[in-house]
Parts: sequence; C-alpha cells; structure tokens
Amino acid sequence: MKTSLEYTIPPDEAVQAERIPTGIKGLDDMLGGGLPSKRCVLVCGGPGSGKTIFGIQFLYSGVTNYGETGLYITLDESPSKLSKDMAAFGWDLERLQKDRKLVIVDASPIRAIPANVKVGNFSIHKKDFSMLSLTHIIKTKAQELHAKRLVVDPITMFVLQYPEITERRNAIVNLFEGLTDLGTTNLLMSELRFNIPEREIQPEEFLSDGVLVFHNFVDGGRIVKAIQIEKMRGISHDYELRPYKIVKHGIEVFAREKFYK
Ligand SMILES: Nc1ncnc2c1ncn2[C@@H]1O[C@H](COP(=O)(O)OP(=O)(O)O)[C@@H](O)[C@H]1O
Ligand SMILES: [Mg+2]
Repeated sequence: MKTSLEYTIPPDEAVQAERIPTGIKGLDDMLGGGLPSKRCVLVCGGPGSGKTIFGIQFLYSGVTNYGETGLYITLDESPSKLSKDMAAFGWDLERLQKDRKLVIVDASPIRAIPANVKVGNFSIHKKDFSMLSLTHIIKTKAQELHAKRLVVDPITMFVLQYPEITERRNAIVNLFEGLTDLGTTNLLMSELRFNIPEREIQPEEFLSDGVLVFHNFVDGGRIVKAIQIEKMRGISHDYELRPYKIVKHGIEVFAREKFYK
C-alpha cells in the first residue's frame, strides 16, 4: 500500500540525479532516497537547530553504511570539542579518524588572518586570502582522502566578509564551483539570522543546488522543530514542513507527520 508521502514524489526516478542517502531515514524518505550526488546543499538553521549534528551524522553514516570517506571542515568549533559532543550520540569520531575514514580539519585559524596579507611585493586582502586558503585546504584534503562526502560548518563567517552583493555572489559561485569539481556531495551550514516568515533570503540560497531549512519555533514557551526542503535541483521531493527531533542516536525526521505548531 502506498503512503501519502510516496504520492508526492513523481515516478520519474530514472531521469533524476543519483542519490546519496543522508542516513536519516525520514529525511531520505522526503528526498526520495537521498541528496542529489555531487551537489552543493545549503543547510540553514538557527543556533541549536542541529546543523552540526546533521553534518556529522551524514558523514558518519557515509562511512559506516556505505564505506564512503568524509571530510569535515570546522570553522567555529574545535575538533576535540566536536568529538566529545558527538560521542553522546554513540559516534566515535576518533576511531574513524584513526582509520582515515574521516578527516576533521580545523579551519578556525583562518579567522585570525590579518586584514592584509603580504606576499612578496603584493598585498592580498584578508577575504581573498581566506577564500583561497579555504578552497586550498578543502581541495588538498578531499583529494588525499578520496572523499565522497564533505561538510563545511559553517560558511557564515565567509559570506559575511562580503557586504557588497556582487562580490558575495562571486565568492559563493567560486566556492560552489570548486566543491562541485571535487566530485564530493557537499553540505554547507549557514546560520539563519532571522526566523520565518520574515527571514531574509541570502544569495547563497539562490546559488546552491539545494536548501534544507531547520526551523525552531517557540510554542507555549517550548521549542518545537521542523524541517523543510525549500529547494533541491535534479530530484523531485517532499515540500511539506515535517517535525524532527534530536534524540539519542542523532536527528530523527517524522516524514509522514504534518507539522502543527
Ligand atoms: N546528546 C544529546 N541528546 C539530545 N539532544 C542533544 C544532545 N546534544 C545536543 N543536543 C541538542 O542539540 C543542540 C546542538 O545541536 P548543534 O548541531 O550543535 O546545533 P547547531 O550546529 O545548529 O547550532 C543542543 O542545543 C541540544 O538542544
Ligand atoms: Mg553548529
């Protein structure tokens, strides 16, 4: 018997992009199997919405369920703190790193780059240098590891370096193109600064291949969570807002439940 969710996904799977399962059953159901392969997907959400947990769960599942190596670029949290926090979900990141199945790169030192970097007689502005450094680190590590999955968490600091819209769009296009060339399936975490419905749409949302939004609503003084696939090029998918929870084994999405605040 077909469920209502299956009816929302048209039966034209054959012409659609290859799927990379996220490892979260409910979300994979919403995506009709998983994320489109080798694309750049933006994950937007407020503080504590579970972006980091989701990123690690995606990589952990890639290694343990599909034998796919993963690269995680952290810009805010230290790798040791991350490993400690994720152990609560039963994910042994130290072991995966020892086995070279997962590499966590601490890119936070990029924040300390001076306003202008001198290279010989040239002076490079911090934002150009940090973008070059980030893309260089990602490329080198992804190739070394033969990475199939990649997470940059978060890209917020990078995009905020470009208050001017044209510059920001160019930087984002360059970053996304660089990631697409690597052949990895990419998640880029982005911190929402406004909650819906007044949320301001960011240029990276237009430029990415997909947008997943993790919403936190306050209802009767309690936070309730819901996820929505706003956009996912190359595949047909569910459009509904669906509830999710952060539970002891990570993120759980209830793909057959409607969200009522
Ligand atoms: N072991 C756990 N069990 C259940 N929920 C947890 C656990 N650890 C963290 N959380 C929840 O996850 C949130 C942090 O998620 P995180 O992925 O770091 O958010 P983000 O990256 O979006 O800021 C915490 O605020 C808490 O609500
Ligand atoms: Mg985070």
